[in-house]
Amino acid sequence: MINLKNDRFLRALFKQPVDVTPVWMMRQAGRYLPEYRASRTNAGDFMSLCMNPEFACEVTMQPLDRYPQLDAAILFSDILTIPDAMGQGLYFETGEGPRFKKVISTIADIEALPIPDPHKDLGYVMSAVSTICRELNGRVPLIGFSGSPWTLATYMVEGSSSKDFRKTKAMLYDNPQAMHLLLDKLAQSVTSYLNGQIIAGVHAVQIFDTWGGNLSAAAYQEFSLAYMRNIISGLVREHEGRKVPVIMFTKGSLWLEGIANAGADALGLDWTYDLGEARRRVGSQVALQGNMDPSVLYAKPEAIRSEVGRILASYGKGSGHVFNLGHGITPEVNPEHAGAFLRAVHELSAQYHE
Ligand code: CP3
Repeated sequence: MINLKNDRFLRALFKQPVDVTPVWMMRQAGRYLPEYRASRTNAGDFMSLCMNPEFACEVTMQPLDRYPQLDAAILFSDILTIPDAMGQGLYFETGEGPRFKKVISTIADIEALPIPDPHKDLGYVMSAVSTICRELNGRVPLIGFSGSPWTLATYMVEGSSSKDFRKTKAMLYDNPQAMHLLLDKLAQSVTSYLNGQIIAGVHAVQIFDTWGGNLSAAAYQEFSLAYMRNIISGLVREHEGRKVPVIMFTKGSLWLEGIANAGADALGLDWTYDLGEARRRVGSQVALQGNMDPSVLYAKPEAIRSEVGRILASYGKGSGHVFNLGHGITPEVNPEHAGAFLRAVHELSAQYHE
């Protein structure tokens, strides 16, 4: 096992003292970087980047090489690798987001779905993890990830991105048994997929519950949170003598106490939450990650710096905060602005730590 040279990110997740607040950005390897666009052209398309471990490693490293402030790397892949491995045929239309050749609509479709074997059906992801770990050589921790069952189900049933989740919600209310069967299969798939990533070397895992906040409180408990609790209880939490923290990213859900009770070490929050208030509500149970509005990066560096200062002050003194954006960085952001953001986090946060 390689010792980490920078473990600030893991220390903050376990609320151990840090010198400055650690920072990384969701979608830090992405289209806002010209070097990423060049790699994508070389690979042919986005899925070829994901499926070739050498390319996945190359683009994972790009933001780290550009920004020495980054305190974590995130595996370059996508949450939709699981439905693809279940046989749905994932592809991306340029500028239009994800699409599936086969859409799930009946209970028979769901019954026919296999539970992917991470080493056989998603072996390219496991190889990407080991290739990236070798290349990182302990520079910073590597984050693995998966979608939550509910978030994955929305893409599998809609067949693409959606604003209102019309088909998925109709299935939930018309045929809750079918929805539960789908979510149960996804929870099993996510558990073994994340455990595969942990064994292959990731230091932490994040579950993206991007669309859970779109459910009613009752449906959220039954169709999203319950399955994430199952997953978390089935994860390998210690590997090769180190603890593996779990981060749950939520967007727009009002049920912070319920999420904090699901067994994760940290909650990732979008920008609509007041971080200080979230800390008062659940900060004794979990660390917090977030939560600057990614659109702040369209503003000038001085405005970015003052927003970083406001968020740091809102969290206040002490460990337990990983700075991040409240959602992924967008393709239109100027890479210089991302650099100004990362520098501001380290510079302005020292005063909040002993
Ligand atoms: O740098 C990182 O954060 C790691 C890589 C990563 C990607 N997707 C790469 C990607 C991660 C963690 C994801 C997660 C993901 N993927 C989520 C959950 C987080 C969120 O954003 O809500 C979701 C819902 C997806 C599904 C997905 N993948 C969509 C809806 C899209 C199209 C929209 C878009 O941003 O283009 C993707 C494509 C995708 N995933 C890209 C990247 C870099 C852009 C593809 C390209 O290069 O053309």
